[in-house]
Amino acid sequence: MLKSPDEIARMREAGVIAYHALKAAKEAVQPGITPKELDAIAESVIRKMGAIPSFKGYRNYPAATCIAVNDAVVHAIPTDRKLQEGDIVGIDLGVFYKGVHVDTGITVGVGRISPLARKLLKVTSEALYKGIEQARAGNTVWDIAAAIQDWVESHGFSVVRELVGHGVGRYLHEAPEIPNFTEPRLKRIVLVPGMTFAIEPMVTAGDFRVKVLADKWTVVTQDGSLAAQFEHTVAISFDGEPLVLTLGPNGEDDLWRVEF
Ligand code: MF3
Ligand code: CO
Ligand code: CO
Repeated sequence: MLKSPDEIARMREAGVIAYHALKAAKEAVQPGITPKELDAIAESVIRKMGAIPSFKGYRNYPAATCIAVNDAVVHAIPTDRKLQEGDIVGIDLGVFYKGVHVDTGITVGVGRISPLARKLLKVTSEALYKGIEQARAGNTVWDIAAAIQDWVESHGFSVVRELVGHGVGRYLHEAPEIPNFTEPRLKRIVLVPGMTFAIEPMVTAGDFRVKVLADKWTVVTQDGSLAAQFEHTVAISFDGEPLVLTLGPNGEDDLWRVEF
């Protein structure tokens, strides 16, 4: 599903709203706050800016965000359980604005976190940018997947297999799939200008196997190891270059960068 320049411009506007919502939620992260409260903060920013949270009601999903604490990977329904110092918390949200969707997420620490947790956040965020570098016309989805997988595994971590990045724009989830691990078939999916998709490395500190909780949404690691996710919506520009649509209004990428 190729987008017009006008659709990509509207997705960029949606991306700025997503940035503000993510930033407000990140700034509120501290010991004692609950995922539900973070969700309410993000939702109110999205609505105040005249947009709609893409996730709410999507396949009956009940919230505006997914808030994934510690061993939760993604699709985590926000709970009332207070965050504690040392936790890591993923915040993932979608914005629907002027007829188009974007999808973006970060993982942040609560207060002081362990060196292992810090390394997991850093490697996952770097993996996102390794993938984005490959998102150019003439490359294939395989190049994105390989860049992410190589970066993650060379640092001793694992990529989740059961969940993947995806096309996004007219719908929250569109073709093609953007896996974080290589498969031969991915060499046949050539990137062309006008494609828009979400790149979202999902990385664990242990085994890559995951399971879904009884709430039918929250995905956690089977071995209880920590997990992180970072996500941007990216377009292949009409120059063939990667164009990140979910940065701040002046191209700020502070939320997705992790210092050690
Ligand atoms: N944000 C998720 C993704 O990255 C999708 C969330 S599905 C929802 O693809 F149901 F939670 F909305
Ligand atoms: Co997402
Ligand atoms: Co996504």
